[in-house]
Amino acid sequence: MRLWLGIGFCVAGMAAQAAVLPVIAGDSNRGAKLFEAEQCIKCHAVNGRGGKVGLDLGRVVNRGYTPAHLTSAMWNHAPTMWGAMEAAKIETPQLTPQGAADLFAFFYSARFFDKPGEAASGKAMFESKQCGTCHGITDSRAEGAPPVDKWESLADPILLVQQMWNHSFRMRQAFARRGMQWQVLTGGELNDILAYLRSLPETSGLGSHFSNTSGAEGEQLFASKGCVNCHHGSLALENRLKNMTLTDIAVDMWNHAPRMLQTPPTFTQNEMRELLSYLWMRQLVYPGGSIADGQKVFSEQKCSACHAGGTNGARQLPGQATKYSEVTIIAALWRHGPQMLRRMRAAGISWPRFKSPQEVADLIAYLNSVQ
Ligand code: HEC
Ligand code: HEC
Ligand code: HEC
Ligand code: HEC
Repeated sequence: MRLWLGIGFCVAGMAAQAAVLPVIAGDSNRGAKLFEAEQCIKCHAVNGRGGKVGLDLGRVVNRGYTPAHLTSAMWNHAPTMWGAMEAAKIETPQLTPQGAADLFAFFYSARFFDKPGEAASGKAMFESKQCGTCHGITDSRAEGAPPVDKWESLADPILLVQQMWNHSFRMRQAFARRGMQWQVLTGGELNDILAYLRSLPETSGLGSHFSNTSGAEGEQLFASKGCVNCHHGSLALENRLKNMTLTDIAVDMWNHAPRMLQTPPTFTQNEMRELLSYLWMRQLVYPGGSIADGQKVFSEQKCSACHAGGTNGARQLPGQATKYSEVTIIAALWRHGPQMLRRMRAAGISWPRFKSPQEVADLIAYLNSVQ
């Protein structure tokens, strides 16, 4: 029996209003296990570890990956991949939406989606921005600043944002006491510094981790922490964070310090995960494609041949209670793709290939629209 429930979130009854669509909590540790359990690792390596049949999924870091890129790449390559699986006698994995969210978190933690940095210039920057004045690699040089090999935040980009926010005020005071000028950072500079610090043998034990929550409490936190006092109107953050990486956001948190007159509220790890899942992750998985353009993609790519009206064993789309995000549509692809491919072959339709990630974003906007 088919488990339709597993495909996405059932929001029947909410469909008529512009519902707040769910973000599924993902965790890179679970994703790493899944990557092995579902045998992806037999063919793909991540940063050098694993099989060589498919691409190293950690090495394609410099292509500005987002979930939309991941989805369109997996969709476009799927038939070839399934062929390789058949040849290797590997069963097509049964990915759930939860599993897709975990895999995404795993790829993110492998720096799949962040821009690659330049370790050499990061080394110079670490000194010229005065970081090295207080932070030794294995020792604290001043002010009780933790040594780099103890930075949890080096292994988890959300903790980096949290630390850059929580400590920036204290660090600013420490800078002032020492008569040092506050150092403004750019995203590129911090990225290079992080690339340098992560390349050191002393920090290799820190590993890497990424997890997001549903973000359901985020709006309330945004208010209770006072962010909303300044961030409304032209300073509202929705959409401003859309194309930013977490490193970019960490830099904004750091650069924020001189703007704060009083001691700013601090965040616990979990609060920061909630806030960022609400402010950032939601924009990333629902990038707000155009419904009208999505409808065009739907007919140009011949999805409509089966799904408009529901022929060839396919369900009518859009109009189902299931809502897709950039991440969960991957699960639908994996669960239904092989059957869909057989039907397409029988109907003489070739496997549609998306020309750009934007097409996927538009298509999702259309699939989620109420018809
Ligand atoms: C039997 C081998 C095999 C297995 C198992 C496998 N893949 Fe692949 N994968 C491939 C091949 C081969 C390609 C390239 C297909 C092509 O060139 O069209 C590919 C392509 C991809 C791509 C597109 C890469 C890009 O950026 O162009 C992604 C993403 C991907 N696979 C993810 C996965 C995930 C996640 C799993 C596990 C759930 C998985 N693969 C399991 C062989 C495999
Ligand atoms: C004047 C001394 C000083 C300088 C210079 C300094 N820091 Fe810090 N840093 C601190 C202190 C003190 C803490 C711990 C703050 C606390 O516990 O509240 C800290 C904590 C941190 C943390 C959190 C580490 C963790 O536990 O995960 C990060 C990240 C960080 N600093 C980055 C930087 C960067 C990047 C620079 C250079 C741009 C820098 N710091 C320059 C004093 C300094
Ligand atoms: C005292 C007013 C004030 C408060 C309170 C405040 N901010 Fe800001 N924030 C600013 C200003 C001003 C900017 C700069 C906007 C720009 O560069 O255009 C900014 C920028 C940012 C940015 C970068 C946005 C971008 O467009 O690049 C982020 C992220 C951010 N703030 C998050 C927060 C969070 C989270 C809180 C609550 C913990 C917060 N801010 C509280 C005034 C404030
Ligand atoms: C030749 C017919 C055919 C075409 C063309 C087709 N599909 Fe499908 N699709 C199916 C069938 C059949 C299923 C159900 C597969 C199963 O039972 O596992 C399905 C399932 C799906 C699902 C799973 C969700 C659900 O409730 O059915 C999604 C999402 C989907 N298709 C999207 C698309 C998109 C997007 C396109 C165009 C890029 C497309 N399909 C083109 C036949 C087709």
